[in-house]
Amino acid sequence: MQSFHTLERCHVTDSFHSAGKDNFSDEDDVFERPSSSRDSSANIGYESEPDEINFLKEQDSRPKVLITGAKGQLGVELVDLLQNDFDIMPTDIEEMDITNPDDVLANFTLFQPDLVVHAAAFTNVDSCETNQEEAFKVNAIGTQNLAIACQDFDTIMLYISTDYVFDGCSDKPYREYNQTRPLNVYGESKLMGEQIVRHLISKHFIIRTSWLFGAQGNNFVKTMLRLSAEKKEIGVVDDQWGRPTYASDLAQAVVQLINTPFYGTYHISNPEPTTWCRFTRKIFEIANRETKVNALTTEEYPTPAKRPAYSVLDSFYWQLRGFPPLRPWEEALADFMSHPAVIKEFPFLDRGPKEP
Ligand SMILES: NC(=O)c1ccc[n+]([C@@H]2O[C@H](COP(=O)([O-])OP(=O)(O)OC[C@H]3O[C@@H](n4cnc5c(N)ncnc54)[C@H](OP(=O)(O)O)[C@@H]3O)[C@@H](O)[C@H]2O)c1
Repeated sequence: MQSFHTLERCHVTDSFHSAGKDNFSDEDDVFERPSSSRDSSANIGYESEPDEINFLKEQDSRPKVLITGAKGQLGVELVDLLQNDFDIMPTDIEEMDITNPDDVLANFTLFQPDLVVHAAAFTNVDSCETNQEEAFKVNAIGTQNLAIACQDFDTIMLYISTDYVFDGCSDKPYREYNQTRPLNVYGESKLMGEQIVRHLISKHFIIRTSWLFGAQGNNFVKTMLRLSAEKKEIGVVDDQWGRPTYASDLAQAVVQLINTPFYGTYHISNPEPTTWCRFTRKIFEIANRETKVNALTTEEYPTPAKRPAYSVLDSFYWQLRGFPPLRPWEEALADFMSHPAVIKEFPFLDRGPKEP
């Protein structure tokens, strides 16, 4: 059996939890000062209540928020939530192909957004390996097109990034300032997107999240539920650690963050860490499925893209800033399983009306 923290797999063994440079460029600006134009009215001490600041809402009219990837699993939740308080423009590839600068410019000119929540991405980790050019085109060039437009229109950007910017050789959860070193093309292209955002836009938020599951779209939880209807026994990797994240909970965190001027990089996921195998066992327990789950090692389940063994995010800066931790993923998973859209897709989850 392979131990998931073996240092042989690491290129750097002793500097993971010291602030440092990644192998692309500066990470110095992971912690940022609030913009001087905004911070005069804001209490930036971390004992302050972040949601009291509400600086976007200080405007006379409803702030305008352009959402990319609006049909994706996170995008759907963002649209649902943001429309309550903001004037939103949901876009996906049909409305605005982010790889096309003219398309991006036309939409910015039309809508003049105050903020862009950028959730569009090429997210299929394995196909990024075989479609490298497309992965970089969407995740890096697409982000650059948006960042340039944000510069021109003085628009704030919130960029969604990933735990796969880390190599997973650490034995402690990754903080926002820890060294990045992606193992796969997806992680590299998302990291490049981060760097573009940091370098081009001073007023930006970067959220790194992990193991996303939402009621809309495809994800690991739905794949496991599907398999449970087909198989008596399955094997799932038990030596890759991470933190599952419910898209609806992340969307709520996005709303909390954009109402503050606390620009910078944040790790946001549901606690606590688990493995894909343990996650699956919990999925089947909540869903009352009898499929047996056997633990596999990464070697026993090779995939085109290498994955980090331990990409557990520490929401260090999020909590230091005074934001509350997200609820445990088990609670979020139970909510997911009772979501009408999920029950419609997996009727075996329907347990009828709840007893009074
Ligand atoms: N899923 C995860 O486990 C995970 C983990 C960590 C971080 N993240 C990040 O979280 C964000 C949201 O992820 P998600 O799971 O909600 O993604 P998703 O469901 O795959 O949604 C992404 C959306 O972006 C669209 N898109 C792709 N190329 C585009 C283009 N050129 N122009 C405009 N839109 C385009 C996709 O359209 P098509 O479907 O038509 O391609 C899709 O609707 C992403 O930035 C992702 O990198 C995800």
